[in-house]
Amino acid sequence: MLGGCNGAQSALAPHGDDAARVALLSWILFAGATIILLVVAASLALAIGGSPRWRQRIGGERAIRLGGIAFPAVTLTVLLGYGVWLMRETIAADPPAALRVEVTGEQWWWRIAYAGANGPFAEANEIRIPVGREVDFVLRSADVIHSFWVPSLGGKLDMIPGRTNTLRLKAERPGIYRGQCAEYCGGPHALMALEIVAMPEAEFAEWLKAGAGPAPAATEGAGAALFQSAGCGTCHAVRGTQADGTVGPDLSRIGGRRFLAAATLPNTPENLARLITHGQTIKPGNPMPEFRVFSADQLAALTAYLTSLK
Ligand code: CUA
Repeated sequence: MLGGCNGAQSALAPHGDDAARVALLSWILFAGATIILLVVAASLALAIGGSPRWRQRIGGERAIRLGGIAFPAVTLTVLLGYGVWLMRETIAADPPAALRVEVTGEQWWWRIAYAGANGPFAEANEIRIPVGREVDFVLRSADVIHSFWVPSLGGKLDMIPGRTNTLRLKAERPGIYRGQCAEYCGGPHALMALEIVAMPEAEFAEWLKAGAGPAPAATEGAGAALFQSAGCGTCHAVRGTQADGTVGPDLSRIGGRRFLAAATLPNTPENLARLITHGQTIKPGNPMPEFRVFSADQLAALTAYLTSLK
């Protein structure tokens, strides 16, 4: 329970309008449930040990009509109305927001696509958005049902195969908001996390502009050559190189991400090397085979290359 109070991924630490509404509803429900629990406990105590007069009152028909029928009917109707109103406020309405980010759930990572000023480009697992602006997240699935949930920014919305759902979120403050796939989607479902990085508008515009261009220094050095010759580019893309695979995450800016393996592993050269050689231990069942053919020097060159892609 205490884990839910951690600010990094908590519905009770809202940093956006939608999350604030959900948090308010949660507190109303907590408070209401507490009051009802106390009333029920007090009634029970009276029913067991109260004076005959009190016991007669509690067992009377009037108490049952009021407490057993009228009270639940009124309370649940009001809560239902409030809940429906809350959902209407949260679902993205027309016209669409100026910034749209396409997020596709995959086993077990997040494919991200930005429209970009100079053409569309791909990212993975780390979503950047500007602060204070509404963003439409266009949610799809490539395989099974996933669920997109960043508790500090808003409610969750399922990613359903064959359907497109749109969730509108706004971050009120710059910061890093952690999210999690909230629908069981196979083995390492728990290892399918993501981060939303909310940046000041100008910084974001710069980042977005850079995204459409080739990755800097993407073709230089031994690591780059090894990346090509080992066939990494069959599944992964690095902009500005021959690597244009779309099966796995786009690696054009992998060095700039805070985490690896869908926000579950800090982005260090050691972890990157381990992901290449022991990926099935880190995320069992993921589609990438383990590459243990590299020598230590080759592995170092490869991780240095990937780390340099920012
Ligand atoms: Cu994707 Cu659970």
